[in-house]
Parts: sequence; C-alpha cells; structure tokens
Amino acid sequence: MFNTHQMKEINYKAFVTKELDSSFTNSVEELSTVLLKENDLLVKVSYSSLNYKDALSASGNKGVTREYPHTPGIDAVGEVVESNSSEFKIGEKIVVTGYDLGMNTSGGFGQYISIPANWAVSLPKNLSEAEAMSIGTAGLTAGLCVRKLLMNDLTPDSGDILVTGATGGVGSVAVMVLSKLGFKVTALTGKANQIEYLRSLGASSVLMRSEMEDQGKPLQKGVYQGGVDTVGGNILSNFISQTSQRGVITCCGNVASDKLQTSVFPFILRGVSLIGIDSAESLLEVKKEIWNNFSNDWKLDLAKITKEVDLESLSEEVEKILGGNQVGRIRVNLG
Ligand SMILES: NC(=O)c1ccc[n+]([C@@H]2O[C@H](COP(=O)([O-])OP(=O)(O)OC[C@H]3O[C@@H](n4cnc5c(N)ncnc54)[C@H](OP(=O)(O)O)[C@@H]3O)[C@@H](O)[C@H]2O)c1
Repeated sequence: MFNTHQMKEINYKAFVTKELDSSFTNSVEELSTVLLKENDLLVKVSYSSLNYKDALSASGNKGVTREYPHTPGIDAVGEVVESNSSEFKIGEKIVVTGYDLGMNTSGGFGQYISIPANWAVSLPKNLSEAEAMSIGTAGLTAGLCVRKLLMNDLTPDSGDILVTGATGGVGSVAVMVLSKLGFKVTALTGKANQIEYLRSLGASSVLMRSEMEDQGKPLQKGVYQGGVDTVGGNILSNFISQTSQRGVITCCGNVASDKLQTSVFPFILRGVSLIGIDSAESLLEVKKEIWNNFSNDWKLDLAKITKEVDLESLSEEVEKILGGNQVGRIRVNLG
C-alpha cells in the first residue's frame, strides 16, 4: 500500500499529444512519473483501444481535452500494481472505460494509469485482456444501445433493425450482437467495398449511405422497428421517419452531423422513441452488466473486427478514424 500523498516514480512509454502555436503533434515519449496522490489504483496497462473520442483528443479538440501535453486513451485493461482500495488487490485484472480517463486524466495510451477505484470493473473471467479491448468503449456503447432496445420491448419478431455507420467500431459490434440475438439487421454504410465484411458480421442486408443522406419527408414508410444510430444529421432524421409503430432508436454519435432536423409526427403518430446513450458516464453497475453480457450470452468472435497496433503506429490510425475510413476496432498493444 502507498499513502495517498505519495508520488511513485516510474519510467514508462506513452503516446503524447502536444500543442504548439495552436497546432497539435503526436509522438511516443518516455515519461517518468505517475501521480498517485489523488487516486486509488496504479494500473499497468496491457491494452487500450482507439475510439473516435481519442482521435478528437489526439488532434486537439478542446471539447474533449482542455490542456496539453496529454496522453489520450479512454479505454484501458491491465493489472493493478498498487492499490489504496479495499475492492481491488495487487495483481487483479481490471478494465476501465470512460469517465475522465483519456480526456483530462492521462489515458490508456500510456503504459501506466492512475485512477479512482470506482472507475474500474474486474475483468470478467471469460474475457481475455485482448478481447476486452477489442470491445472497448465502442463495443460497450453498442452494448448499451442493445440493452435499451431490449428494455423497450424490441424482439427479433417485431421487424428489421437498422445500424448506421455500420463498419465503424460501434456499428460493427452492434451488428454482431443484434444478429447474434436473432435480429434481422440492415447495415448502413458508405463503403461499397465492405459489403462482405458486414455480411460476415451477420447483417442480412446492406444499404448504401447515399440512400439516406438527403433530407426526406417527415413521415416515410415505416420499414424499421428501430436500431442504433452512430452518425446523426439527415441519416438519423430519415431513420426516425422510416421507423414503424412503437419503434425505438438509440442515438449515440455524430460522425455525420450534430444537427437533427425532424418533426413531431413520428413521435405522436407512431409512438417512436429516440433514446440517448452516454457510455462514459454510465453507472458502473450498468457497465458491469454489459461486460458480463460480453463474456457470456453476447460472447463474440472479435478477431474478424480487430486490428492490433502498437503506440508507434497509432498516429496513422488516428488520421484514418478522423477521415471516417476506419473499419472495425483498433486494439492498442502497450507491450
Ligand atoms: N455516446 C457515446 O457514449 C459514444 C460512445 C462511443 C462512440 N460514440 C460516438 O459514436 C460515433 C461512432 O463512433 P465509432 O467509434 O464507431 O467511430 P468510427 O469507428 O469512426 O465509425 C464511424 C463510422 O461512421 C461512418 N461515417 C463516417 N463518416 C460519415 C459521414 N460523414 N456520414 C455518415 N457516416 C459516416 C463510417 O462507417 P460506414 O462507412 O460504414 O458508414 C465510419 O466507419 C462517434 O460520433 C463517436 O463519438 C459515442
């Protein structure tokens, strides 16, 4: 045990974003200190993962990270090496996603993190550290969306499901989980060369993004019972208009736009529900429930959606995700 005012000196490697004259650079650096004084756990990180929010942090988005230099990484899995918490012992494997990790707290793109114990979940027995970071925040978010759809009475028998941004991290996991649960999933994508990929995840049909990009009528033929939207803008607007009676849509992302133009008609004439999802600040109990699902009934073959990189190759993956060109999940091996 270390006392709460102690500072532990450790040498470790981290991916660091720096600000210079309003421009931002990324590099892998040797750092030498982890501040423990405010926190409960020191964790040696084995894997992290790349999420859209990490790319925003690594490119200087001050809505995500206020001060630089900074180590992004909103996800981490690893081993507790020091503990001031009665809940976690040294040697225990934990997973952490969201809260302030990687935003204004040094994140999982460093080999060590220092965090409050109430951000951490014990790594479920059926899940390896690598698998946990194939899931990461993107997968957890997909899981939270699916949880809400199920809680709101959607069943495989009540009609088709739409997943937008389907080749992305959230989209890929959402397609996999929903099809595993027996839903008939339509995957919306901008990538004509990824139709086979989406079918291999379980999508029963694939629709091109261009079909939903223009703002349509406020009430269109109701073809979906709901689903998962990761992109916002006109696509979400059309999604709402094409959702049938008592349908449910979960809204979690804004890759296309943070604007939403709609009308009250789908809500008052069809009883459609639009449910917001925020994974970062989800209750720890809910995160535990989702991790537990991923290690049991929702267990997935994640190899086909995962590319593993080291810290040195992370910059190019950041560019790719910012350009909307990423497919599946990027797992970061901290070595
Ligand atoms: N609310 C939360 O708690 C939460 C948690 C995690 C992520 N998010 C948000 O969810 C969104 C998706 O995250 P992610 O990790 O899945 O990102 P991602 O891996 O980059 O996937 C986004 C996907 O959206 C599609 N896309 C890209 N540009 C687009 C455009 N201009 N118009 C329409 N679709 C476009 C692409 O898929 P296709 O080519 O297949 O269409 C892309 O792969 C982001 O906005 C992220 O910030 C929110």
